[in-house]
Amino acid sequence: MKNNKLVVGNLKMYMDKEATIRYLNLVSKIENPNVVICPTSIYLPYFVNHGYQVGIQNIATAKFGAYTGEISAMQAKELGVSYALIGHSERREYFHETSDMILEKIKRSLEVGIRPIFCIGEALDDYKNGKTKDVLKDQIREVCEHLTKEQIEHIIFAYEPVWAIGTGITPTKEEIDEIASEIKKIVVENFRISMIPVLYGGSIKEANIANLESITNIDGYLIGKAATTEEFIRLLEVVYI
Ligand code: PGA
Repeated sequence: MKNNKLVVGNLKMYMDKEATIRYLNLVSKIENPNVVICPTSIYLPYFVNHGYQVGIQNIATAKFGAYTGEISAMQAKELGVSYALIGHSERREYFHETSDMILEKIKRSLEVGIRPIFCIGEALDDYKNGKTKDVLKDQIREVCEHLTKEQIEHIIFAYEPVWAIGTGITPTKEEIDEIASEIKKIVVENFRISMIPVLYGGSIKEANIANLESITNIDGYLIGKAATTEEFIRLLEVVYI
């Protein structure tokens, strides 16, 4: 195996049951603990106990109780989930998730031994106005200031520029490298952590993965649309073979 990069597939709400069953067949050949698949929650039981890890796309801020429609970190853990996407920009935008909520979700995950994949990223206007680093710094500080060093050490950071998600547009290789290094610097300097993993996400596909592979500051990828088809297998081949 070429490297230990983490490759996370975020299947969002793209598939119905029939498509999910076809997809399970496709990914059944994966034997790699660095590959994480995050299906729609009701399909989680189909995905656990295979040759890849499983992540949940969202979890509740509460531990347990009267929270209609929610899934707790403990419930996910019991099922065999090992990662949780937290603070995805779609959750922030459509479900009004705030840093306070994201903080609680990260705490709930860590309490049960689920590794949070903490998504951060700037909107297009911030990018155009040169505010990327400020936005990221705020997003990181608003959450990490309330966590211990040990808790922060278990977080995987995912840099996903909002304007790159599902648009087919990505930042340049140099921009991703610079921002990933900035995220590491913010965390290392502010919270005295020795090193943290940073994933990149946003319009990753066959046409750009080889280019992304040359970015030294990136420790893996968060892949949406391209993770839902055979393209995912081809992307994994580029990363791992
Ligand atoms: P995309 O999504 O690969 O479809 O751009 C990435 C994500 O939202 O995590």
